[in-house]
Amino acid sequence: MRVAVIGASGQLGADIVLAFRDAGNDVMGLGHADIEISDAESVKSVLGAIAPQVVINTAAMHHVEQCEADPAKSFAINGIGTRNLAQVCEAGGTYFLHISTDYVFDGAKGQPYVETDAPRPLNVYGNTKLSGEHFALAACSRSAVLRVSGVYGTHPCRAKGGMNFVRLMLKLAAERPELRVVDDEILTPTFTVDIAQQVLRLAESGATGLFHGTAQGACSWYEFASAIFEISGTTANLQKARPGEFPAKVSRPSYSVLDNAALRKAALDVMPDWRDGLTRYLKAIG
Ligand SMILES: NC(=O)c1ccc[n+]([C@@H]2O[C@H](COP(=O)([O-])OP(=O)(O)OC[C@H]3O[C@@H](n4cnc5c(N)ncnc54)[C@H](OP(=O)(O)O)[C@@H]3O)[C@@H](O)[C@H]2O)c1
Repeated sequence: MRVAVIGASGQLGADIVLAFRDAGNDVMGLGHADIEISDAESVKSVLGAIAPQVVINTAAMHHVEQCEADPAKSFAINGIGTRNLAQVCEAGGTYFLHISTDYVFDGAKGQPYVETDAPRPLNVYGNTKLSGEHFALAACSRSAVLRVSGVYGTHPCRAKGGMNFVRLMLKLAAERPELRVVDDEILTPTFTVDIAQQVLRLAESGATGLFHGTAQGACSWYEFASAIFEISGTTANLQKARPGEFPAKVSRPSYSVLDNAALRKAALDVMPDWRDGLTRYLKAIG
């Protein structure tokens, strides 16, 4: 397949490029210097020149505080940017796979969300990503949306200054006598290499519609930190933070576990347990 990966210089995009190349595809990785997704002309001319059979979009404005401060820019990238890509894919008969987020939910369900659960985003980021999902599915007849969560990988997260939670915990463990981490926010940490394999599987199948694609299982941030130290053999004085000890500037779901129900139903779920991904990630970073 001739594949264009948007956001290829990012944490997830870089691993998707590798996964598709390893599987023998002709892959063009596009960074922000190559394409501006909020600009319809840029999208038309860049994708027009490549004429891909598959477009995968990982590009987003996903720094939650920055989205809250600039909702128009957030919508221009996460909403209109996705529409621009979806429209060009529709015109070219191209398969479009768009990456979305667990932050489309408010967390009130308190048990794993399936694809048919009604979204209710708590912040600008979640709302603009939800608009992107609608644009992707409505504007392109051959499109799939894959919601992921708790993403970490060996390539730096561009929007978060290159840092991810695992690296931050290992850094702080070396610097601080005590580490305090919240135990009342539940998520599913997911390794980018595993998401990339899931994206590959989905694109090869040509399946369309809305899918949840996270690792199996769930944990609190405290449990995630605890597993990082246990698996890496790091000595750290880890404590549970008191409720409200780290007040967030922007509302976020306190529970955002996703059930890969649609992938399972289509016999496409290749996601391992979150601890398995973490073990391979820690090995990869040495
Ligand atoms: N990270 C998480 O924890 C998490 C959780 C759930 C869902 N997600 C979703 O996963 C996806 C990938 O996240 P990530 O962690 O890989 O992000 P990342 O490391 O910040 O990478 C995003 C990439 O998109 C590019 N980009 C940003 N704005 C663009 C634009 N207007 N036009 C073209 N390219 C643009 C960035 O380039 P520059 O940096 O040069 O601007 C970067 O290459 C996103 O859709 C995000 O919403 C992430």
